Amino acid sequence: MASYNLSNTSYSGRMNEKTNLYNSYINKAESIRIKNENKPSIEEAEAYQAAAKICGEIMAINNTQRNVYSQWRARRDDCIASMEKIASSLKPAKEPAPIAERGVLNSRELDARNTADTTASGFTTKNACKDVTAATIEGWYKSMPNHGFDDVAGMDEIKKILKNHVSSSGWSRLDEILGIPPFQSFFFYGVPGTGKTFIIEAFAHEMMQQGFKFIRLLGGDIHASLVGVAEKTVEIAFQEAIDNEPCIIFIDEIENVCVNRSLNNVEGHEKRLTVAFLEAYNLLKGSGKRVIFLGATNYPSMVDEAMLDRIQLVKIPLPDLETRLDFFKRTFNVLKPSSDFSLEEMASMTENYSFRDLGRLSDTIAIRIKSYARDKYAVIDANGNVDEDATSKVAVDAIVNGDLTVTKELFSEIQAEMPPSDKTRITEEIEAFEERVKGINN
Ligand SMILES: Nc1ncnc2c1ncn2[C@@H]1O[C@H](COP(=O)(O)OP(=O)(O)OP(=O)(O)O)[C@@H](O)[C@H]1O
Ligand SMILES: [Mg+2]
Repeated sequence: MASYNLSNTSYSGRMNEKTNLYNSYINKAESIRIKNENKPSIEEAEAYQAAAKICGEIMAINNTQRNVYSQWRARRDDCIASMEKIASSLKPAKEPAPIAERGVLNSRELDARNTADTTASGFTTKNACKDVTAATIEGWYKSMPNHGFDDVAGMDEIKKILKNHVSSSGWSRLDEILGIPPFQSFFFYGVPGTGKTFIIEAFAHEMMQQGFKFIRLLGGDIHASLVGVAEKTVEIAFQEAIDNEPCIIFIDEIENVCVNRSLNNVEGHEKRLTVAFLEAYNLLKGSGKRVIFLGATNYPSMVDEAMLDRIQLVKIPLPDLETRLDFFKRTFNVLKPSSDFSLEEMASMTENYSFRDLGRLSDTIAIRIKSYARDKYAVIDANGNVDEDATSKVAVDAIVNGDLTVTKELFSEIQAEMPPSDKTRITEEIEAFEERVKGINN
């Protein structure tokens, strides 16, 4: 329960902050217009541009909440439309105005601005440009995730598929003879919290030990950037992977960059982004480089069908009984269930829980046990205060000796407060998607 409150506070805090910022830019644009006696100006367009950027950031925060997302997309489109109107009413500047197509730079203008760029930390790339700077590109390169395959509960089949690649480095001659291409791609889908990102990070951990680099982008962030810049971001990210083989490139929330063009209400700029994405993907695939492309989504039906044709689909299901048992074995390996309760019972009581739900449940149990132990084993010092070190030591001993355990009563009590998150709608969408894919493949 505590974690729900925490995340809600930070979400609403961020939303308030960004909404205020958006309102202040809109007010600014309006006051500039009044100050200039109703004449349009570059300053006014800049205020709308800043407001559009904030809308994009709010869209990124809300990209799983389609209603809020659409509301802010409409606001962003209004800001862009205001910018366009101002741009067309102003006389052409000496230099081509940065507000070109839909008020933003187009790809060709960006190309002209491509310059080698180096960041303060010494990262260099030839692919940087004004709107996708070397510092932004540097941020895509991730350090090695802390967890590897050994830390992933269950998922044996998926580990097996991916392990073929981990072991393939030394097999390049065999791969060549067998005609196994150096480029591979996987598309992970499943309901939220099932471990898509976690297993991909574990895979990256293994591959980075073999010299692979790890590029990771969030589809929501790309989609939220201005039109033209979003397309350029995709092109540059794929070029970076080509230039830096062997490399993994992972795009989370891929439905935002490869939007299914056959859905209703898909806007022109989203279709253009999909086309740019598919073109860049084809280049990557045809490059002959050792690159592994990974995409992940909760909404596979929102991904363009042309992409689904080109990539290996991997479903990440909810953890089954055996996997949940594996999870609890790892989680409650020091703090144990009481003698009249068991890990097996925990596993059978938690059907329909995702890993995220299980994590929340076990974190809350740990916090509750800590608060209980603080009272029960309190060691009071000479001044009448609780001696934290001494209390903690007694509590640890109690856990190790099996005096302090997780009882079925405590587990059930906390479970009642934390039922599994509702996955009905997404599960239905995924099932419909699987039916459709079956249809396509037959
Ligand atoms: N196989 C696993 N073993 C142990 N813990 C896991 C496993 N998979 C996921 N977790 C835990 O569950 C949490 C949620 O997993 P993750 O973020 O990878 O889910 P996801 O499928 O990517 O969710 P979303 O669709 O919301 O992005 C992780 O932070 C991790 O701690
Ligand atoms: Mg994820």
